[in-house]
Amino acid sequence: MALPRIHAIVPAAGQGLRLASRPGLPKQYRPLLGRPMLQWSVERLAAHHAVRGVTVVVAPDDSAFARLEFDAECPVDWTEGGDTRAHSVLNALEYVRQAHRADWVLVHDAARPCLGMEELNRLLDAGLRAPAGAILALPVSDTLKRGDGASPAAIVATQSRDDLWAAQTPQLFPAGLLHQALSDQLQAGKPPTDEAGAMEAGGHHPLLVPGATTNFKVTWPGDLLLAEALLRRRSWS
Ligand code: CTP
Ligand code: MG
Repeated sequence: MALPRIHAIVPAAGQGLRLASRPGLPKQYRPLLGRPMLQWSVERLAAHHAVRGVTVVVAPDDSAFARLEFDAECPVDWTEGGDTRAHSVLNALEYVRQAHRADWVLVHDAARPCLGMEELNRLLDAGLRAPAGAILALPVSDTLKRGDGASPAAIVATQSRDDLWAAQTPQLFPAGLLHQALSDQLQAGKPPTDEAGAMEAGGHHPLLVPGATTNFKVTWPGDLLLAEALLRRRSWS
């Protein structure tokens, strides 16, 4: 049997508002050990032998991508994103299905530069055997409190964390199924916050594959230091 064509999509069309990025320097271009975050994220995926290519989804007014040089084992190209992450991924899916004839897509946040090969291998091993693919995720470990919405918030209740998982990326799906699921959700005006959300709404049940705490999403200013510490260790090993 021929190996499936696996293509990675890296959404990088956001503004990084929670990180309070400077205008003109969105989060995905913030330097980590002197290299833009996006470069780390793309190169982790491109280093995997099963990944045939990587497509980065950039904002329409992006002026930084063209200056990047990737140290990659496979081709890296780009396409334009949209208003929400879901719109960005749908645009990219249309492009990669046509231009790269992808069978499977691996969608990974530009904002997760510390992805490890171990968890990527776990995802591919489990996901390629599952009809609706799989995502990396972590069982929730903190006690969950519901707040009352005020400021400062007060506790209203403690939520059970049984069977709750925090979704990470990469998320791996058959390209055609994800395309259909995302188009349906966007046509219904309900953009999901991750790709698995669209699959679920379409009646599919992707697997949950244990990720890693180190594969966190750089979101808040303090996360930059943490990411640099992890990347420094990685470049030593
Ligand atoms: N993203 C995208 N297109 C959008 C919005 C987000 O491609 N319209 C991407 C981001 O660039 C990021 C990933 O989706 O790599 C995860 O989103 P998030 O961490 O929320 O990044 P931002 O939306 O940039 O940050 P914030 O929500 O703090 O503004
Ligand atoms: Mg966002």
